Amino acid sequence: MLLEQIRSGGCLSYLVACEATRVGLVVDPELDQLERTLALIASTGVRVRYVMDTHTHADHFSAVALLARRLDVPAVGHRSSVAPFLDLRVEDGDTLLVGDLRVAVLHTPGHTSDSMSLHVEDRVLTGDALLIGGTGRTDLPTGDPAALHESLFGRLLRLDDATRVYPAHDYKQRAQAVTTIGAERAENPRLKHHERTAFVAQMQALDLAMPKHLTEALRTNRSGGMTVKQLIADAARQIPFMSMRELSDRVARRDPELVVVDVRERDAYLAGHVPGARHIPRGQLELRLDSELPDPTVRVACVCQVGKISTLAAATLRQLGFGRAVALDGGMEAWQAAGHPLERGA
Ligand SMILES: [Fe+2]
Repeated sequence: MLLEQIRSGGCLSYLVACEATRVGLVVDPELDQLERTLALIASTGVRVRYVMDTHTHADHFSAVALLARRLDVPAVGHRSSVAPFLDLRVEDGDTLLVGDLRVAVLHTPGHTSDSMSLHVEDRVLTGDALLIGGTGRTDLPTGDPAALHESLFGRLLRLDDATRVYPAHDYKQRAQAVTTIGAERAENPRLKHHERTAFVAQMQALDLAMPKHLTEALRTNRSGGMTVKQLIADAARQIPFMSMRELSDRVARRDPELVVVDVRERDAYLAGHVPGARHIPRGQLELRLDSELPDPTVRVACVCQVGKISTLAAATLRQLGFGRAVALDGGMEAWQAAGHPLERGA
């Protein structure tokens, strides 16, 4: 069996494949690692058959929907997952055929209600049920410490001691994040509390900070919708940018060809803008476009506070026929920090 671990900070995803047939599956892919994951798949010569999440992630952005579409293969998840983009829903006792590999689905809820572990030969991918020296938390939406107790003691710890465990997280940045059922049974401090009440009390006493981007992660992972970062990255691919230096040179020589459009809110514009910049807030761009910028062949440079909303604005302008619209690479914060001149007021 071929098993590649892909790390992104504390998160781990996997490419698991059958050596003989080169057919594989991707587990828990991360949006930030999408291109790297595709490159790894290409370099290993694996034909991916399924893309899946072990559970609805609350702490990072899943690439399952996007990767499944890019590879034209089914997106797989647990039957109880609310994600509408899943093509194939599986449940406890199901087996996925991946070349000559048999991937058995174990429903191991507790961290979330839709958590699965994947048992294949002498290995088990445990998602966030069982981690190295830890377990998944149970205080996020659909978490349930009593269910996790059953998943651990009733299911995972009943696997053979030699079974190698590949978790979805490893916060200690180990070079190879792998353990065994036997090692965890012997050493994992969370598993010292065998008795259900004690285990539940231990989980309830953990006072963990909420993950960054919790709401956005749940929104995108449950709906298949985009992250804001994705939206801006997509817009950035549709336009060129103008460098700070280029804009400053053109402003200094009062380039008659260039129209600078500041798309921030009024207060920010009044407090200081690029000399000569016109003000059309992003929220009014489409409404005021035809009266304010009647010539779509004009060269427009959009400017905002940090360079993100201006990217969206310039992409919108391109879609509306302004074939020379660009965004300032950076925003007014960088413009000001670089000591370029400001004009205040209307
Ligand atoms: Fe998780």
